[in-house]
Amino acid sequence: MNGSPSFVSTTRDYLLGPFGVSGSVTTFADNMKLPVHRWYRYSAGYSSEWAVKLIRHWGVTRVLDPFGGSGTTCLAAQESGASSYAVEVHPTVARIARAKLLWETDPDNLRDVVSRVLRIVDKKHAVDVPSSPLVAKCFPDSESLADLLRIRDAVNALPDGESTTELAWLAFVSIIRACSPVGTAQWQYVLPNKSKRRVAEPIAAFQAAGELFADDMETHQFLLGASPADAHLLSGDARTLDGVPEAWADAVITSPPYANNYDYADALRLEQIVLGDIEGWSDLRPLRDVLLRSATQNIGTWKAEEALKSTLMAPILDEFIPVYEELSEVRKTRGGHKAYHAMLAGYFFDNSKVFQALRQKTSPGVKVCYVVGDSAPYGVHAPVERWLGELAIAAGFSSWEFTKVRDRNTKWKNRKHTHPLHEGYLWIEG
Ligand SMILES: C[S@@+](CC[C@H](N)C(=O)[O-])C[C@H]1O[C@@H](n2cnc3c(N)ncnc32)[C@H](O)[C@@H]1O
Repeated sequence: MNGSPSFVSTTRDYLLGPFGVSGSVTTFADNMKLPVHRWYRYSAGYSSEWAVKLIRHWGVTRVLDPFGGSGTTCLAAQESGASSYAVEVHPTVARIARAKLLWETDPDNLRDVVSRVLRIVDKKHAVDVPSSPLVAKCFPDSESLADLLRIRDAVNALPDGESTTELAWLAFVSIIRACSPVGTAQWQYVLPNKSKRRVAEPIAAFQAAGELFADDMETHQFLLGASPADAHLLSGDARTLDGVPEAWADAVITSPPYANNYDYADALRLEQIVLGDIEGWSDLRPLRDVLLRSATQNIGTWKAEEALKSTLMAPILDEFIPVYEELSEVRKTRGGHKAYHAMLAGYFFDNSKVFQALRQKTSPGVKVCYVVGDSAPYGVHAPVERWLGELAIAAGFSSWEFTKVRDRNTKWKNRKHTHPLHEGYLWIEG
C-alpha cells in the first residue's frame, strides 16, 4: 500500500455502508432490470447503479472507462450528468455498447423499422445457413433457424449509418441465444448438451425486443431529458486510448479482464457466427492478438521475454520472477502445459501500458476505481491488486489502496486449484 488517499476512506464507507452497494457490484444481474442496460446481457459487466452512485458521490464530470464492455459506465455517466469516453477492443461488444447509447432515437422510428423487417421476413426468402457445427447444435429446428437468419438478412439490408439500423441490429443480436433450445449459459459458453425450458420463437422474439427497446427509449428520454451528457464509445485499445483527449478525465471507473478468468475472444462466438462475421473458432485469432493478455489463448507467438526485459515491468519484477519461474516449472508437471507464466507476464506488461496511457488522458488529482480480482493459475497466487497498484504508481499516479468486496473461488468443491480468491475496488489517485 502506498499512502492513504483521502478520497478512499469516505468513498469506501459510503459504498459499503448501510445504504451502499457491496456484493452485487461485480455482477451485471441487477442491470437486467434497468431500461437500456437490459438490452443485452453482458455477464462480464458490473452494476450500473453502483457506478451511478460512485460518480455522484465523487461529483466528477468527465469519466473514462478503458475497458468499456457493453457501455455500462457511459450509460451510468449519462444518468449522473457526466460526460464519458469508453474504449472497447472487441468489435461486436463495442457495437452493442454504441447501439445502447442510441437510446435518444425516436422510438416510433424504431417501431417502423422493426415492422419493415418483419414484413420482409414474412416473404420467407431463401437463406444461407452457416456451415458451423456450433450453429447446427444450437439450432436443431431448421425452420426456426431460417426465420432467425431471415431477420438477420433483413436487418443487414437496412441503410448503413442510421441509428435505427444499429438498434434493430442489437434487437436481433439480443434474441439469438433465447431462440436456441440448448443451454447457452449465463456466461458466454454454449452448452449444446443442456436444454432450456422456454425457447423463444424468432419473429415474436424480435418483435418483443423491438417493443422493449422502444419503451425503454421513451422511459430514458423522459428521465434524462432533452440534452443528456455526451458519451463516446470508441473501438480501440486500452493500451493506447487513441481518440480520448489528453488530460481529459477527472475520474476513471472500470473493470479490466481478470487474469485467467474469461476468454473474451470467445464471449460472442455464437452471435458472431450467426451474424456471418466469423465462420468459427479459428477466425478469433486476430481478436486474440489485440485483447489484453488475460488468457493463455491470447498469448499466440508473443514472447514473455519482451515483458521481462521492459522497464514497464521493473517496479514488480523482483516479486514477479519467482511466480513466473514457479509457473514455468509447475507447467511441466501438468497435462495441459498451460503457459500461465507467459500469460501473467503479458497481463502485467499490458496493464502497465494501460496505466501509462491513462496517465496521459487524465487530469492531475484524478480519482480511479478498478473493480478487479486476483488470480492463482495452477494454484500459484499472483497478488494482482498490489502489482497493479505499483504499476500505477510507476506510471505517475500518487497512491493506491484496495478494498475487498467479496471472496471468489470458494464454492468449487471439485476444482484442482483451491487457492481462495477475492475481488474488490482498487482505488488509485493521481
Ligand atoms: C470486465 S469487462 C468490462 C465490462 C464493463 N464494465 C460492462 O459493464 O460492460 C472487460 C472488457 O475489456 C475488454 N478488453 C479486453 N482487452 C482490451 C483492450 N486491449 N482494450 C480495450 N478493451 C479490452 C473486453 O473485451 C471486455 O469487454
